[in-house]
Amino acid sequence: MEILSANRRKVVVVGGGAVGATFAYALAQSGLADEIALIDKNVSLAQGQVLDLVHGLPFFPSVSIHVGDASDYANAQLIVLTAGAAQRPGETRLHLLRKNAEVVRAVVAEVLAQKSSAVMLVVTNPVDVMTYVALKCTGWNRHRIMGSGTVLDSARLRYLLSAHCGVDAHNVHGYILGEHGDTEFAAWSMTHVAGMQIDAFCPICGRCTDWAAERSYIAQQVRDSAYHIIDYKGTTCFAVGLALVRITSAILRSQNSVLTVSTMIDGEYGIQDVCLSVPCIVSRKGVEKIVESSLPENELAALRSSATALKQAIDQLTAEK
Ligand SMILES: NC(=O)c1ccc[n+]([C@@H]2O[C@H](COP(=O)([O-])OP(=O)(O)OC[C@H]3O[C@@H](n4cnc5c(N)ncnc54)[C@H](O)[C@@H]3O)[C@@H](O)[C@H]2O)c1
Repeated sequence: MEILSANRRKVVVVGGGAVGATFAYALAQSGLADEIALIDKNVSLAQGQVLDLVHGLPFFPSVSIHVGDASDYANAQLIVLTAGAAQRPGETRLHLLRKNAEVVRAVVAEVLAQKSSAVMLVVTNPVDVMTYVALKCTGWNRHRIMGSGTVLDSARLRYLLSAHCGVDAHNVHGYILGEHGDTEFAAWSMTHVAGMQIDAFCPICGRCTDWAAERSYIAQQVRDSAYHIIDYKGTTCFAVGLALVRITSAILRSQNSVLTVSTMIDGEYGIQDVCLSVPCIVSRKGVEKIVESSLPENELAALRSSATALKQAIDQLTAEK
C-alpha cells in the first residue's frame, strides 16, 4: 500500500558520485527511507547509479529509488547535498571553496523555488563553510540546515581509541569538535571508555605509559585520516556514507540523538556567526538544541580558534564575490 505522502520518508540525495551513491546504498539497506531520489547534473551517472541500486530491491527493505529532479524537493523530508568537486592537485582551497559555493547556491535556489519544507544536510566540502553558505542563501531558521560536520571524525576517534585500548568501539564515546578539517580537535574532557571518563580509564587500561603523547597521536591520526584514504584510493565514501545514515536516522525517526553536526553558532561558547561542530540534539526538526557544555579552558580556546579559521574562509569567500 502506498504510504500517504505527508508521512512518506522521502530523502533526496543531490550528487551521485562516490559519497552520494554510497550513502544512497547504505540508506536503502537501512530501511529508514520509503523513497530515495538521486539527482546529479551528470544525468547518465544518476541513471546508472539508480539502475544499479534498483537491481538490489529484492534484497533491500521496501524502498522506492529513482532518478530525481528539482520537483522532488517539494515533498522531501530530507535533502542531502553531496554535490561538488573534491580538491584537485594544484588547486587552491579558495578556488575549491568558490566552486563548491556556486554548486550549493544553485541547488539551494532550486530548493527554494519548490517551497520545500525539508531539513537540509550539507556534506559538500569544506562542509562548515558550505553549511554557512546554504543557511545564508535560504534565510531559513538555523535549526533546519546542518552539515555532517565531525560525525565522521568522531567515529574515527572512537575506532582508533577502541583499537588502542582493546575495547569495543560501541563502548567508546568521544567527540571531535570544531571544523571538519585541519583545526578540529578531540574533546578529551567528553571522552569516555567503558563508561569512565578517559582520565580514570587510562590507569586501568595500562596499555600505554605516555597518555598525553598517545592522545595527541590519535587526534592527529583522526585529523589526517581523509588525506591518507584519498592518497590510497582517491576518495572516501564508506564511513561517511554510514555517518550520513546515522544523521538521517536521527532526523527521520526524530531520535533526539546527540551528534556533532555542523550548526550555526549564535553566541554559544562565546562564538558568533559561524557554522562548526559541537554536540547537538538532532530530531525531525533538524538541530533541536545545541548542547553547550562547560569545556575546559584549552578546549574552549581550540574551539574558538577553529571558529576564527572558519570565519577567515567565509570572509575570503565573500570578499572574492
Ligand atoms: N563532509 C564529509 O565528511 C565529507 C566526506 C567525504 C567527502 N565529502 C565531500 O563530498 C563531496 C562529494 O564527494 P564525492 O567523492 O562524492 O565527489 P564525486 O566527484 O564523486 O561526486 C560529486 C558529484 O556531484 C555532482 N555535481 C556537481 N555539481 C552538481 C550540481 N550542481 N548538481 C547536481 N550534481 C552536481 C557531480 O556530477 C558528481 O557526480 C566533495 O565536496 C567531498 O569533498 C565530504
